[in-house]
Amino acid sequence: MTPNRAGVHLRRERRRSFLSPGVAVLVLVIVLSVAGWAATTHVVRDDRRQAAQRRADDHALEVRNVLQRVRAFAVGLGNALQGERVTGSQRFAALVGSATTTVGLTTAMWVERVDEAARPAYEQRTGLRITALPGMRTTAGGTHYLPATFVTGGTVPPGTDLAGVPALAATLREPASLFAGTATTAGSLGGRHGFFVVQGARFGQGPDRRGLLVVFVPADWLGASLKTDPSRIAIGLSGWPLSGALASPSAARRQFEALTRTWTVDVAAEPRTALQATLPGLAAAWAPLTALLVFLVGRGMTRRRRAERQVDDIFDLSPDILCVVGFDGYLKRVNPAFERTLGYAAAELLARPLLDFVHADDRERNRERFRGLRAGLGAMEFEARLVDARGVPRWIQWNVRSVPAQGLLYAAARDVTVNRRLAHEVGASRRRIVTAADEARRRIERDLHDGAQQRLVTTVVFLKLTRKALAEGDASVTELVDEALANAESGIEEVRELARGIHPRILTSGGLGPALHHLGRRSPVPVTVDVQADARLPEPVEVTAYYVASEALTNVAKHARAAHVWITATVTDRRLVLSVRDDGVGGADRSRGSGLIGLADRVEALGGTLSVSGAPGGGTTISAKIPLA
Ligand SMILES: Nc1ncnc2c1ncn2[C@@H]1O[C@H](COP(=O)(O)OP(=O)(O)OP(=O)(O)O)[C@@H](O)[C@H]1O
Ligand SMILES: [Mg+2]
Repeated sequence: MTPNRAGVHLRRERRRSFLSPGVAVLVLVIVLSVAGWAATTHVVRDDRRQAAQRRADDHALEVRNVLQRVRAFAVGLGNALQGERVTGSQRFAALVGSATTTVGLTTAMWVERVDEAARPAYEQRTGLRITALPGMRTTAGGTHYLPATFVTGGTVPPGTDLAGVPALAATLREPASLFAGTATTAGSLGGRHGFFVVQGARFGQGPDRRGLLVVFVPADWLGASLKTDPSRIAIGLSGWPLSGALASPSAARRQFEALTRTWTVDVAAEPRTALQATLPGLAAAWAPLTALLVFLVGRGMTRRRRAERQVDDIFDLSPDILCVVGFDGYLKRVNPAFERTLGYAAAELLARPLLDFVHADDRERNRERFRGLRAGLGAMEFEARLVDARGVPRWIQWNVRSVPAQGLLYAAARDVTVNRRLAHEVGASRRRIVTAADEARRRIERDLHDGAQQRLVTTVVFLKLTRKALAEGDASVTELVDEALANAESGIEEVRELARGIHPRILTSGGLGPALHHLGRRSPVPVTVDVQADARLPEPVEVTAYYVASEALTNVAKHARAAHVWITATVTDRRLVLSVRDDGVGGADRSRGSGLIGLADRVEALGGTLSVSGAPGGGTTISAKIPLA
């Protein structure tokens, strides 16, 4: 790769990794989380602000109502005073008392303006002395006194000059106060915090009856009338705190006009509700929780899909039969091995009950097994035949498991037809080998009985006759000895022949080549032997090849009526190929005797094959191929 291409490659790698789905999802989740938290926090804050504003509005309305009542009290009292003919302290107290029962305000005063010059006349008329409040001077700047002529509530004694009360003095200087109920700024009277409502009025019908009705409204009375917690609502009068002290900063403020003053109502922030406290956290957690949920569900689905794919692969690739059978007796799923074994397409197999494919002889037994499995027998192993598409029965070894909860049987099976045939053939071959061995023993016994045994018996008879002739001095002794000798020699020759038939000595000593030549020489039909194997071969291979040639030559002599026989032996590809061909009548058939079958058993026992060929009239060729190891 050139440096340039490598650079491009690296850049692509980096970009791909930066934009990988995992990172993108993570970024998205964080963004959604933060956005959710911010939006919800904003909504909650806005909601709280609006709620506080509503509370401030409600409280402002209440305060305004209470102030209206105060104003109505002052106006009503002023009107009552105006209609009185008789003045006096007691009358004043009676009028205030009758009005105060509904409002609850107790401190009301009738105040007159008295010039310095009019002071003696005032004091003479009322019998009072104008006195200053404790710590105050009388007269404010020497203009006039504001003595309280009649007083209820006992806050100050009659004759007290109220011009020394700053809040009151300032208000009284305003001309408006003479015509309408006017609140003073916040102040105090007799140690109580509050404000005054001033109302210009007349008390009685006389010429000097003009004065001021002053009602003191204590701050705590205002608070009590509002029935609110002073730590959650604060009332301000012309910018000065009048009532209440907020425990937390003001959350909302309402301002309004009443009694010619500006009033403010502040409300404290309410503690957050559980929902308001949780919402932002929930909004922030929503995105990660959703992502986690999606991730978990997605992962579960992916795993499930992968597991299903693996099952599919195993199902499709299995060389064994796999199938699922419903409790209704129909195949629900089959794998390709099933289709291959029976030669039916899957659709045909699924369309009919499984018992339809079972061999008629096995059907009843299988119906019972099926019933057992359906009734809850967990698993079962058995062999039963299915019939393939060509009508050929196939032995199938079944391994079935029942899952009643699903109403299904799961089965793994294997076609064991070939195994069973091979096992059958091996059994037959063993039986033939045993029979052949028995026969061989019987022939040896017969040969010994008829041959060598007879010779030896005859020899013994002759020897006994010889002994008798010797004792009697008979002249035929020599003749008898000759007979005995001839019999003994004949017996030796027969035993030798017999031994040679059991195991060819020449094979042991000389190997396959000389042994085949020896067989050829003994054959009554002329034989050409061609052996292309110099080295000695494994003993079982040499012995088997020898017997094949021996039996084939015997057969030629017995059946072929041939003029010539050719024997060839070659070693190629680590195996010996032996062939015995004659030009006789042909038509060899292994089912007609035991010789050729015996040869096939011998050759196959070594992993080789034996073939017999030759049509009638075309000679016969016996060919054995035997692996060397
Ligand atoms: N070379 C041959 N030419 C013609 N026919 C043959 C030849 N070899 C075998 N056959 C025929 O095949 C049959 C089977 O041979 P096989 O050797 O199995 O049995 P057999 O020779 O008859 O008896 P045995 O069991 O004693 O060998 C023979 O009976 C014979 O008819
Ligand atoms: Mg034979």
